[in-house]
Amino acid sequence: MQKFQKSPTDPAFVQDPYPFYAQARGAGDFIWWDDFEMACAVSHKMVHAVLRDKRMGRECPPELAPDIPAHLRPFYDVEDHSMLAIEPPRHTRLRSLVLRAFTSRTVAALGPDIRQLCHELIDMFPNQPFDLLTYYAQPVPVLIIARLLGVPEERADDLLRWSNAMVAMYQARRTPEIEAAAVAATNDFVAFMRGYIQVRRKTPADDLISTLIAAEEDGARLSEDELISTCILLLNAGHEATVHTLGNGTKTLLEQGLREIDEALVEEVIRYDPPLHLFTRWVYEDVTLGGQSFKRGDQIACLLGSANRDSQVYTDADSFDPTRKAPQNNSFGGGIHFCVGAPLARLELQIALEVLFERCPDLRLTEAPVYGDVYHFHGLERLMVSTSR
Ligand code: HEM
Repeated sequence: MQKFQKSPTDPAFVQDPYPFYAQARGAGDFIWWDDFEMACAVSHKMVHAVLRDKRMGRECPPELAPDIPAHLRPFYDVEDHSMLAIEPPRHTRLRSLVLRAFTSRTVAALGPDIRQLCHELIDMFPNQPFDLLTYYAQPVPVLIIARLLGVPEERADDLLRWSNAMVAMYQARRTPEIEAAAVAATNDFVAFMRGYIQVRRKTPADDLISTLIAAEEDGARLSEDELISTCILLLNAGHEATVHTLGNGTKTLLEQGLREIDEALVEEVIRYDPPLHLFTRWVYEDVTLGGQSFKRGDQIACLLGSANRDSQVYTDADSFDPTRKAPQNNSFGGGIHFCVGAPLARLELQIALEVLFERCPDLRLTEAPVYGDVYHFHGLERLMVSTSR
């Protein structure tokens, strides 16, 4: 396996990681990424295979579980019950409860609501240059996931703040300050959810929290800690990635002068510049993959951002082609942890981009967009635009 050194906080890499990924794919299906001290699957074929391999998973083998320092315990207590961090049978139980409430019918029914929200947000666009992330890309997914769960919209700013602080734990540049902020946010988020669940027990409604509360009250199916972790996961995962896909996608469309939105274009937005580039798997038994041997306890990173630019699978992979008919991209992962929210994210992106370009045909960039130094999130710091609307 060829060794590569590249700091994920290297400024050129943060702005454009794709040349490094191309170099990595040149070395085969796997590279050894020194800075992460980890093997990385970089080709489409291998990322696809690792994500679906049942001999690997997201949950740390018990004998390797690190000692969590007491001050970080609140954060990991929530994560320990998150479906994204566990494997069957617990994963199957939690995921199937959520999927039952997340049917394609429930998601499709949100369409008119999303459209109306987009119009209302555009009505409030300022007359001078403004940050499209703040005015549009953030509120659309945050308000929609809050409504879907049944969390009061007045708490949207808190949700955004808590979520930003919590997901900062996964970035390459993690400091004691980031950890302290994440723990404080976790404590506030858990306290809010615990109190709010008590309120909603008495007044159930037609929303996801009520469905999950019913499952919890049923006893064996869901504990209160699992209920809280699931709500926090849905609220966090339910917007962070969509915000940045919408931001990165709008940037690309403005740069390329594309304004006609259809399903193929949305799929290309999701492939071309996704917000989440690296997810890891623990190896549970000794395996050989692509000629490489792995042992129980090894970790393998899947570079989704690299797999999406693999020219073995996508013709002219570094070009944005709104008419592309290609195999599905890896931006939503694959296998048993495949993104629960993919249908909702696709619908939000389709409607949000459609309404944006319909209402603001003269939308233009007013400054060159800059990506934030928060790998593995690949998202813009801000997206300054103007429109006369
Ligand atoms: C464009 C937007 C989105 C992207 C790119 C995205 C990406 C991903 C990826 C890559 C994974 C799998 C991680 C892994 O396999 O290790 C994942 C899992 C997940 N996503 Fe998303 N996501 C998006 C939107 C959403 C939305 C809107 C929701 C919720 C409403 C959501 C909820 C989840 C959940 C709950 C999981 C965990 C599934 C499991 O472990 O079984 N995501 N997402």
